[in-house]
Amino acid sequence: MKLKWLGHSCFIIEGNDRIIVDPFITGNPLCKEKIEDIEVDIVAVTHGHGDHLGDGIEIAKRNNAKLVAIHEIAQYAIKKGVDAEGINMGGGVKVKNTEIYMTPAWHSSGLDETDFSISTTPAGLVIKSGGVVYHAGDTCLFSDMKLIGELYKPDVALLPIGGRYTMDVKQAAMAAEWIGAKINIPMHYNTFDLIKADAMEFKRLAEQRGAKVIIIEPGEEIEVK
Ligand code: NI
Ligand code: MN
Repeated sequence: MKLKWLGHSCFIIEGNDRIIVDPFITGNPLCKEKIEDIEVDIVAVTHGHGDHLGDGIEIAKRNNAKLVAIHEIAQYAIKKGVDAEGINMGGGVKVKNTEIYMTPAWHSSGLDETDFSISTTPAGLVIKSGGVVYHAGDTCLFSDMKLIGELYKPDVALLPIGGRYTMDVKQAAMAAEWIGAKINIPMHYNTFDLIKADAMEFKRLAEQRGAKVIIIEPGEEIEVK
């Protein structure tokens, strides 16, 4: 499968289908793509914050894609005219040729409308589409990451390292060891000044713990097995 990083927590996974995760395009200073150029079959969302749900509604509509998210966000998307599937912790859904499962994430989550905010629950996602990718969403370190590793045996773990709102480099290095994915890719850093982090330091700390790290640049695509 191929993985392309669009900056922040946004990835396009090309496995059995083309899946965009956390499609934060508008307002993402690291993203060079335009919404019009994004072609996907599935839009997967970890939580309602603007830097994750992002342009998900518009991208799903433009592509006639299925949006997968926690029940409440799926219901919201359906009201906006999107074809959506709701899932929840421990469960999952098969969409086209891809399976998506939901894991916990420790964080908060609101979905901002113009004059009110809907509180939703944040999550991580395990995407099986040729290979197995664990996208941790926004989260702190928690020891059940060991369980996620044991249950889903991810090939790739996408881990936030920016601190402030999520794990920092030290915690993410511990997460990488616990999850035990074949490769770990840092995300959710250097998008804004508040989440500046040194990815090389994450790599050094994770590799001390026996976890492999690949640092990719925004816009870069890699092939993973
Ligand atoms: Ni968030
Ligand atoms: Mn975030």
